[in-house]
Formats: sequence, C-alpha cells, structure tokens
Amino acid sequence: MTNQLDKKSQAWSALFSEPMSELVKRYTASVFFDKRLWQADISGSLAHAEMLAAQKIIGASDLADIKRGMAQITQEIESGAFEWKLDLEDVHLNIEARLTQLVGDAGKRLHTGRSRNDQVATDVRLWLRSEMDLIIELLVDLQKSLVDVAEHNVEVILPGFTHLQVAQPVSFAHHLLAYVEMFARDAERMVDVRRRTNRLPLGSAALAGTTYPLDRERVARSLGMVDADGHAQVCQNSLDGVSDRDFAIEFTAAASLCMMHISRMSEELILWMSQNFGFVKIADRFTTGSSIMPQKKNPDVPELARGKTGRVFGHLMGLLTLMKGQPLAYNKDNQEDKEPLFDTVDTLKDTLRIFSEMIGGQLNPATGQKEGGITVNADAMQAAVKKGYATATDLADYLVKKGQPFRDAHETVAHAVKAATSHNCDLSELPLAVLQGFHASIEKDVYEVLSLRGSLNARNTLGGTAPAQVKLQIARHRARFN
Ligand code: ARG
Repeated sequence: MTNQLDKKSQAWSALFSEPMSELVKRYTASVFFDKRLWQADISGSLAHAEMLAAQKIIGASDLADIKRGMAQITQEIESGAFEWKLDLEDVHLNIEARLTQLVGDAGKRLHTGRSRNDQVATDVRLWLRSEMDLIIELLVDLQKSLVDVAEHNVEVILPGFTHLQVAQPVSFAHHLLAYVEMFARDAERMVDVRRRTNRLPLGSAALAGTTYPLDRERVARSLGMVDADGHAQVCQNSLDGVSDRDFAIEFTAAASLCMMHISRMSEELILWMSQNFGFVKIADRFTTGSSIMPQKKNPDVPELARGKTGRVFGHLMGLLTLMKGQPLAYNKDNQEDKEPLFDTVDTLKDTLRIFSEMIGGQLNPATGQKEGGITVNADAMQAAVKKGYATATDLADYLVKKGQPFRDAHETVAHAVKAATSHNCDLSELPLAVLQGFHASIEKDVYEVLSLRGSLNARNTLGGTAPAQVKLQIARHRARFN
C-alpha cells in the first residue's frame, strides 16, 4: 500500500502533471520552523480522532491505531530519531505521513472532517497558550525580584527626575515599584489575550465547515479550550476560525508593551551604572569588558534588551502587515505568522528570565537567600538628590500652609533657589535670617521641611513616596503573589 503523502516528492495528486521544482519546495516549506508545533499538532489530532470515534465517523480500532502510532511518533520526535522531510512541507504532513506509514488506513482516516487550515490555526493557538502560561509566571518572578529589592530600599532616597532634571526626592523602593505596576499590567494583558487565544478553530475544515457530524465542543473541552465556568470555547464562524491571526497580533502587541517597559528600565540601569550616576551595579556576569579599554565594564544585557525591543516591535508591524491585505479565508501568507511569533516568544522569555535574575539575584539553596542581584549605592543617590534643590516644592507647600497663595509661594521659592545657587549651597543650608528675608512667616521648623527625609515623609497619600505608603504597597504586592 502506498501512502499518498509519500508521493509528494513526485506531485500532489493525480491532478498534477509535474512535481514541484526544488526551489519552490524550499520556498513553500515550513517544516524547519513549524516542527516546534509538533506537540500541539499531536494533541489536536488525538482530540480530533477521539471525537471522530465517539461520533462513529471512524471505528474504535482506527482510534486505537492512531493512538498507538502517535505514541510512537512522540517517542521518535523526543529521542531525535524522527526524520523531518522537506518534501513533506510542514509539521502536519510530516506527522500524518509517518502515522500512515506506521498504522496504515487509520492514519489516512485521521484527516476526515478537517483541513490543514483549521489544523494549523488550532496548533498555533495551543502552542501560544502554553507559552503564555510560562510568560505569565516569568512576569510574576520579575515582579517578585523587584519587590525583594524594594523591601531593602524603602528608606533609600534617590532623585526623582522629570525631563531628566532633579525634581523631587523619592524612595528607591517607590521607583522600583513603579515597574512592578507596569509588569503587573503586562501579566494582566497576557491573561486577557490568553482568553481569546484559547478558542478552537478545528471543525472549520478548509473554510466552510464540514459535512461530517463533528462534535466541536467535545474537542474544545478535551483540549482545555474552556472558559472559567468550564464551557467549551469554539470559533463560531468557520471563515474567521481558519483565517484570522488577531490573537497572535494581540499577543505580539502585549509582548511589545512588556518589552517597552523592559527597555525603559534598561535605559535607567544603563544611566545609573555610568560613572556620572554610580547609583547601582549589576553583577559581573551580566556585563562585558572591552577588548581595548581595560577599565571598562559594559552593561551589555540592558543594552541588548533595549535593542531587542525594536526587534519585537518589528514583529508586531510584520504581523499586522501580513494580515492587512488578505481576503477571506485562509491564504498561504499566514504561514509567515510563525517565525515572528516564535521569535517574539523566545525573546520575551529570555529577557524576562535574565532580568529577574539580574535584579533579584539567584537563589542560593544553602542559605535559602537570593544572591548576586543589583547593588545599590545609597550615598551616590543621596549626593545626587542634594545637587538639585529637590525640596524646593516642599518650601513652596510650607509657605502655602502659612497662608501664601501657591503662585506667590512658587515665586518666593525661586528667589530662595537663586540665593542658594549664588551661595553654592542647598536650600537647607541657608541661614534662617536669609530665608526669613524671602518671607517673614518662615520659622525654624522649615529645616525639617527642607530635609530629604521630611520631604519624603510628607508625601503620605495613596500612591505617594512616603515610606509608610511604600510599605503598604509592598504588602499589597506580597498578598497578590500568594
Ligand atoms: N503550513 C501551513 C501554514 O502554516 C499549513 C496550512 C496549509 N494550508 C494550505 N491550504 N496550504 O499555514
């Protein structure tokens, strides 16, 4: 008995008068990248076969043969013995051909009521779903790393910047927790995209549905494509089910936002590590030296992450462009969805892993503690915040509390800053008599207001940088992680 699929090295079917040219074969094949969908492909096929048997579309012995064949194929792929053939174009045809070789007619019956169009859409969704589950975990790990470092740095003060000019003192922990908020939203977005990804195209067949009495909801349930209440999630329109890749685009958009956040953090780490700031150090294993300048230690990892962000944005643009001109339903263009999607997943996962460790360190099993995360130079941060009159707003607020209208207070403080500049000192170093020259209401208690710690403690409203607020936020995040 000959296998139709094996004859692909000759021609598709009796309809074709000549085989594909070698160049066209190479041009159209996807097996060397889509073989990574193999597990999803086998799970989808098994769920489909079980349903076909339950619906009496294939026999019980066919199902048993298919299961046996798929078990062997799984083992062959895992051990590396499986022979992937370019002639067989893609992961789907490679697995189906091997199945038929192993179990005969049952293998040929598997494709009843389905097409590669609904098969590939199902595989990509299943694959992406499990990758998103990993990504959500990695996002939680990164948030935990940031919260760990924050916990040790609640009282450490660094200059908060606007326009990269010293603005107001903030707690370093508060600064780190800003990123925790961003990564928490990134995880939320992933959860949301997962919900729309987790729907079953299978049963849409080539484009119009199928003449066989399929039970699509059964297949969805057996693949875990269910909502929170356990209801089967099935694509409700066959044309849409086979053709749209909006779920992949949405994922790449969510990944792009996450990489954008990583990139902002990278930019800060790079600045903070420069000699001009000296705020933090990252462990040597995340840096590289220079081949010519022996003194150099370069922040390659944050720089590369900043660079790889552009690559993920490019994939988003690529996928959007891939879809925009396609008429319904499936077109071969869609085969081009895979490499950008795979690369987005790989880049995001690697980046999240490396950042968790670079920030929070590595668990030492002997001590149960994390070691080798970022090192914080609190003195350098403090020195930097003192250079920029960071408590000028506090002085204005002080005057307002003494009865001056805010706009007048703003002007009064501008004069005080000018005086401090000409004395080459901080506002808090101006003698009381000089300060009183700007406004008679100023008293000795102004020095508490002008201190960094006083400034920090004063911002004790929800979302503010006062250590009391920051501690509440840390507790909220910890509770969220549990
Ligand atoms: N390798 C193809 C893809 O990735 C599978 C679907 C092929 N369908 C077709 N009608 N040629 O999209």
